[in-house]
Amino acid sequence: MLKRTHKLNEINDSLIGEVVIINGWVDRMRDLGGIVFSWIRDRYGLVQVVFEPQKPVYKSVENLSNEYVVAVKGVVRERPEAAKNPKLKSGNVEILAEELEILAEAKTPPIYTNREEGNEEARLKYRYLDLRHSTLQRNLIFRHRVAHFIREYMNSKDFIEIETPYLTKSTPEGARDFLVPSRLKKGSFYALPQSPQIFKQLLMISGFDRYYQIVRCFRDEDLRADRQPEFTQIDLEMSFADQSDVLEIVSGLVKGLYEELVGVNVGEIPVMSYSEAMEKYGSDKPDLRFEIELQDITHETFADEMKFLAPLENEALKSIKIPNGGSFSRKVLDSYVDSAKSEELRLGWVKKINGDFSGSLARIFRSAGVNLELKDGELMIACAGKRSAVNKFLGGVRLDAAKRLNLVDRESVRILWVVDFPMFEWNEEEKRYQAQHHPFTMPYVEDIDNHLNDLSKIRSHSYDLVINGWEMGSGSVRIHTRKLQEKVFDLIGISESEAKTRFGFFLEAFEYGTPPHAGFAMGFDRLIAVMLGLSSLRDVIAFPKTTSGTDLMAGAPSKVSEAQLKELGIKLEVDE
Ligand code: AMO
Repeated sequence: MLKRTHKLNEINDSLIGEVVIINGWVDRMRDLGGIVFSWIRDRYGLVQVVFEPQKPVYKSVENLSNEYVVAVKGVVRERPEAAKNPKLKSGNVEILAEELEILAEAKTPPIYTNREEGNEEARLKYRYLDLRHSTLQRNLIFRHRVAHFIREYMNSKDFIEIETPYLTKSTPEGARDFLVPSRLKKGSFYALPQSPQIFKQLLMISGFDRYYQIVRCFRDEDLRADRQPEFTQIDLEMSFADQSDVLEIVSGLVKGLYEELVGVNVGEIPVMSYSEAMEKYGSDKPDLRFEIELQDITHETFADEMKFLAPLENEALKSIKIPNGGSFSRKVLDSYVDSAKSEELRLGWVKKINGDFSGSLARIFRSAGVNLELKDGELMIACAGKRSAVNKFLGGVRLDAAKRLNLVDRESVRILWVVDFPMFEWNEEEKRYQAQHHPFTMPYVEDIDNHLNDLSKIRSHSYDLVINGWEMGSGSVRIHTRKLQEKVFDLIGISESEAKTRFGFFLEAFEYGTPPHAGFAMGFDRLIAVMLGLSSLRDVIAFPKTTSGTDLMAGAPSKVSEAQLKELGIKLEVDE
């Protein structure tokens, strides 16, 4: 084999006159009536190779086709002035071929290498070919660089990387577990970890002080563009540390990543309470790349005039004003009214166009004395009902309006911390409270004493990192005494025996000297997608799954043989 002397990013003016050997794939070929040009591609670059008819090697070019793997030996020469391509590193030069060795032939690829064409299903089926495309190569190489930066940063802050088991027991992150049957202990199952939560806390009890891991997590949940059934977390835990320590470490990491790898200074990362985020933006992951905020008009005196909107006791009346929202069609506004109704909310709107008001709230704006300004072209939407539902609904309108009016500045990066999440949330299906983050999160102890009759009011020492409207990461200060842990289990209706079965080993560990500790986990795939300005995690994972959890290339999940099932002691009830 002609062994390569240079990678393709190394072919440039400095090599003019030298003989080189390159290896790579035939990207495309062009026959200019006699002279054949072939573009050769590798991970590093693209180079033009010229086959001239007078050279003996010319004969072998007949057999060449796209995606063949080749080795070419030739002389680097300057291209004619008019043929220079400043966009390419090798754009000033070309290689005049003297020898060609075909290392592997290739069938015509079943997908276009141009990613704009061809359906995604085919591209996922032939993922290894799609991965040849420069965009996906760039994404994965960027991912590698981010991982490298993270490791260097964490190492420099005294964190050590420790692996934790994948074959383990159920972890309490709130999704369904993926189960793995045990052959040696028939009828028993491992659960794949939804996160290394319990193990990292145990490592604190073991005295490792600072742990991190870039780790795979598994969750059987409904999938969307920002969710994969197996995904990667940057997971960390710190002893003798509180919220401010975790925020400082993670803020430093994120700032460094953006500065070093995106070239953006993100500035100081602001901290906002959960309740402020909900009141102002109707979301616990507010996208701050555009301005619109929710206004509380519950106590405005004109409320009576908005008869159908007038808030009842314990209700809120809130509004948002959308610049240029005057352009929204009746159909869009009616759809807002309808979906508000389905949430048991009441909604009204008013537009001001050329000084004229229209909409269900127009009358009150025409009458004097209304202290709500409306600029020309603006749309105001007001919504009444249960405060949390009103916030959530208007938060949705806020995002929808931004999309319709293209208000998001795609170049900007807006990061914030949202802190003090409620400790518990109501699970309507099971008619009980559950931990909003996870049950190892430290509640505000003073809140427990004050709000035992309304658990939704108890706050927790927890924090989310939000980037451009994505929930990028979550963490909390942990409970470190068994007594408080048992209290929390008790409040969410986990009995002593259930706690013992599920986390007995963990609770026991608390008895042997547990340092105060706190931690965090960031979605690594999400981080890469946001840093690259992409919307789907599939573009930053080498071998991703579809929204139905399928690997179209490998054909997983798949049936297994009778013999395998028998060995595991499993009898299937599903029909073939
Ligand atoms: P949490 O469950 O909030 O916290 O997860 C942390 C981050 O992981 C990412 N993430 C996902 N990314 C892709 N696909 C998914 N299905 C998926 N699910 C979660 C998100 C999320 O913010 N053990 C705690 C952390 C801690 O308390 O230390 C945990 O896992 O970006």
